[in-house]
Amino acid sequence: MTLSPLSPDATPKPSPRPPAGASPAAGPAGAGLRFPPDFMWGSSTSAYQIEGAAREDGRTPSVWDTFSHTPGRTEGGDTGDVACDHYHRFRDDVALMSRLGLGAYRFSVSWSRVQPTGRGSASQRGLDFYRSLTDELLDAGITPVLTLYHWDLPQELEDAGGWPERDTALRFADYARIVADALGDRIQLWTTLNEPWCSAFLGYGSGVHAPGRTDPADALRAAHHLNLAHGLATQALRDALPAAAEVMVSLNPAAVRARSDTPEDRDAARRIDALATRVFTGPMLHGRYDEDLLADTAQITDWSFVQDGDLAAAHQPLDGICVNYYTPSVVSAVEHREDGPAPERRDGHGASDHSPWPGADRVVAFHQPPGEQTEMGWSIDPGGLTELLHRFHREAPGVPLYITENGAAYADEPDGEGRVHDPERIAYVQEHLAAVHRALEEGVDVRGYFLWSLMDNFEWAYGYGKRFGIVHVDFGTQRRTPKSSALWYAEVARTGQLPEA
Ligand code: FCB
Repeated sequence: MTLSPLSPDATPKPSPRPPAGASPAAGPAGAGLRFPPDFMWGSSTSAYQIEGAAREDGRTPSVWDTFSHTPGRTEGGDTGDVACDHYHRFRDDVALMSRLGLGAYRFSVSWSRVQPTGRGSASQRGLDFYRSLTDELLDAGITPVLTLYHWDLPQELEDAGGWPERDTALRFADYARIVADALGDRIQLWTTLNEPWCSAFLGYGSGVHAPGRTDPADALRAAHHLNLAHGLATQALRDALPAAAEVMVSLNPAAVRARSDTPEDRDAARRIDALATRVFTGPMLHGRYDEDLLADTAQITDWSFVQDGDLAAAHQPLDGICVNYYTPSVVSAVEHREDGPAPERRDGHGASDHSPWPGADRVVAFHQPPGEQTEMGWSIDPGGLTELLHRFHREAPGVPLYITENGAAYADEPDGEGRVHDPERIAYVQEHLAAVHRALEEGVDVRGYFLWSLMDNFEWAYGYGKRFGIVHVDFGTQRRTPKSSALWYAEVARTGQLPEA
């Protein structure tokens, strides 16, 4: 692999864009802010988005292999067959993280690589890959943070019904046990699921994610079985891991804003909060589904798939809660709810004739907030992150919080000298780190920040067209080029401080 040299002599600066409401003279948000000395600075990736080697060493297809190989499902027909070829280049990728001085790395395990049929015996070759990756990280002094499930269900389990089937939750607990037995001696920080909202509601509701099904009742069944899977896997991990291991979950709670203060618009925000966030935090943190969620969805399902003991199983003590945050949602009530077509959805979750919001599609409208947007069309609003951190601080007192994803897509390309300048991304991250710092100052126990993403990768239905990396990847040559944001972030990680303007 060829690497562009890092040039620490030229620490890049954020763009001059001031935070909303600040005067341009104020400089970049949070300049000079200092984080706690043990704050964890990392980056995030996921298996299907970077590994490639889709058919090697016994790996079988996941729903994302099937989905991406189905014409019309991803931009340009892109697949994760090769992706960043990380499966073969992980040593170089770890070396790059080490050169950047990143203290932690969040990656996910491909279920069908380590347990090819989704049930039964494990694949030693699959487990060996993650063992080698972990050893490489530990040797480089980088803390591994392992996610068990980042959306890549083994296709065989989907063929048996997928997440709407209860058995998938049981299979997930067995898989958790396999990974814990193989890596528990080396990894301390574990998360069960990544963003179960996307698995359930984009996978089975709007169908813009694998497996591409579009049945609102199935989406709710999937959500419940993901809650159960999280609880059963947490129990399996506790059983298999040393006492010091920490078990967590990564959620993408919505920072929902009502467009106005009318009772109708506030009710729209309440509905989306229930469907986006409380459908998971209810069982996981409190052992219940809220009455309003059950009432809002009563026409779609009677929830009879919730069996005795499920909510207690989902409600396990957690050692940390991980928040993924990119952008807020602005909603209002829809008038004439039974008439005409559903309102256009500007919820940032891709185009589909089917809604990912069971029971709310004709009741709630989504609006594009004013102001700047990233390449995803997502508005930039760091205040949403502070709000969410406060919310979990209140809802789960005493449980440490991590940000396991935050970042921005921009259309970055190398200049004539091969350098990639991305001042917008630096500004985005700096503003969001300032928002994290605000929560810390206000007493919220935030332990770490993982930037999405270490490198450009397969951005699901958007294919390779959306670049979130702080390292640029040329997908033709696999050349990695640290962008100016990588050098900037390296400086933040080294000093524990947001650079002065
Ligand atoms: C999150 C996903 C992650 C990546 C970012 C941009 O929802 O967890 O894999 O796609 O969005």
